[in-house]
Amino acid sequence: MGKIGYIRSAVYLFLLLIATNNAAIVDIKTKGAKGDGITDDGPEILTYIFIAIMRAWKEACEGSPPGSLLIPPGNYMSLAVQLNGPCKGPIEINANGATIKAPPELAKFTTESWFSIRGVDKLTMTGGTFDGQGQETWKTTKCQETTKCQIPVNLRFSNLRNSLFKDITSINSKNFHISLRGSDNSRMENININAQGNSLNTDGIHIAKLNGLNITNSKIGTGDDCISFGEGSRNIRIEGVSCGPGHGFSIGSLGKFPNEEPVEGILLKNCTVNRAINGVRIKTWPNGAINGVRIKTWPNSHPGIVRDITFENIIINNVQNPVIVDQEYCPNKACMKGAPSKVKLTNVSFRRIRGTSASKVAMKLICSAEVPCENVEVAGINLTFNGGPTNSQCTNAKTKTTGQNVPGVCAA
Ligand SMILES: *[C@@H]1O[C@H](CO)[C@@H](O)[C@H](O)[C@H]1NC(C)=O
Ligand SMILES: *[C@@H]1O[C@H](CO)[C@@H](O)[C@H](O)[C@H]1NC(C)=O
Ligand SMILES: *[C@@H]1O[C@H](CO)[C@@H](O)[C@H](O)[C@H]1NC(C)=O
Ligand SMILES: *[C@@H]1O[C@H](CO)[C@@H](O)[C@H](O)[C@H]1NC(C)=O
Repeated sequence: MGKIGYIRSAVYLFLLLIATNNAAIVDIKTKGAKGDGITDDGPEILTYIFIAIMRAWKEACEGSPPGSLLIPPGNYMSLAVQLNGPCKGPIEINANGATIKAPPELAKFTTESWFSIRGVDKLTMTGGTFDGQGQETWKTTKCQETTKCQIPVNLRFSNLRNSLFKDITSINSKNFHISLRGSDNSRMENININAQGNSLNTDGIHIAKLNGLNITNSKIGTGDDCISFGEGSRNIRIEGVSCGPGHGFSIGSLGKFPNEEPVEGILLKNCTVNRAINGVRIKTWPNGAINGVRIKTWPNSHPGIVRDITFENIIINNVQNPVIVDQEYCPNKACMKGAPSKVKLTNVSFRRIRGTSASKVAMKLICSAEVPCENVEVAGINLTFNGGPTNSQCTNAKTKTTGQNVPGVCAA
């Protein structure tokens, strides 16, 4: 990293604008640039890439559709980039073979995103490796404990409808790798995410407030949740995704804020979790949660709904909590005791979850005393610990089991 510079040498980047008959193809081309990520690039150059991408976007977005923005193969650096719609029509970003690095210094960012794209219908984004160079940030910052959390997410996609994200790689983000919010009816295919297992707050893909999303054939290894589903996650299908290291596939946490939208219609199938803290998890805050600096108290936790969730055909390799419903989630241990969550879980299925647990208690269904979990289906579970059987632990869970499960499910 040391020689990746921001100090000196001149790199000449310019915009090449090719307007064809009915398409604006905008190419950000390097010329005379080593583009090798090793030669020092001056700060003016970083700025220049930032400007080049923004300008190219503006041309492609405002030109006759379909617009196309091309980042040719090569190594680049970039400060924060904001690309806003609406565009005249469908638009494509092609970054196949391009590796873009963020400067490691957090001080160079004043926004909560590195690449932000918002308000576009029919975006297709293909290729590109986005390296957040977050290693220093993980060491020095605890996002949860600061009043203003301005650590940039590598790729933030907001309000993008009918969009496709394909063959994209995110590594070492300073914060979450990808945030997808309000992007209805979209697809992600072959997404690769990579950061070390102890990197801080580096959720792989965080989803919230959207209806209709498929994520397929992807690989996520990171320091926090591989995929997290926040409020308003609806009709989502995850298939063929491997997770690990990480904190697993996680719904929630929910119930911390008033008026959260339901999480419903999640199908997670044919996935693998390797050497992770959790396998599949649903977590909600208990009533009376009190938390550090950002928002001081929740005199009451808030009602919410989680329903129609299916985890099916999941391979578990050496995972601490393979199956966990935790309605007493309280990371800072600052919750009022005996104040149950008001988030209601109904119609949750755990089917064919098999493999090795790293702890004896392989299934925990800790539901709320105030609103017990209803219609929790458990079928075809086989989780072993050190080659032997595992246990389960349940509270306030109305379960429905089929066949023989290891562990057996505690009676409700
Ligand atoms: C997701 O996949 C399902 C099943 O293949 C399909 O019916 C649905 O239309 C897909 N949704 C999106 C948003 O692509
Ligand atoms: C399951 O996902 C893997 C990729 O993780 C894929 O290779 C395989 O074909 C999928 N199997 C089914 C039955 O969909
Ligand atoms: C749960 O599933 C049953 C049967 O499919 C359905 O009748 C009921 O409305 C569902 N409940 C919720 C809260 O979604
Ligand atoms: C569970 O898996 C173990 C190890 O693969 C196997 O020996 C055992 O027969 C399985 N049990 C059931 C009930 O499927």
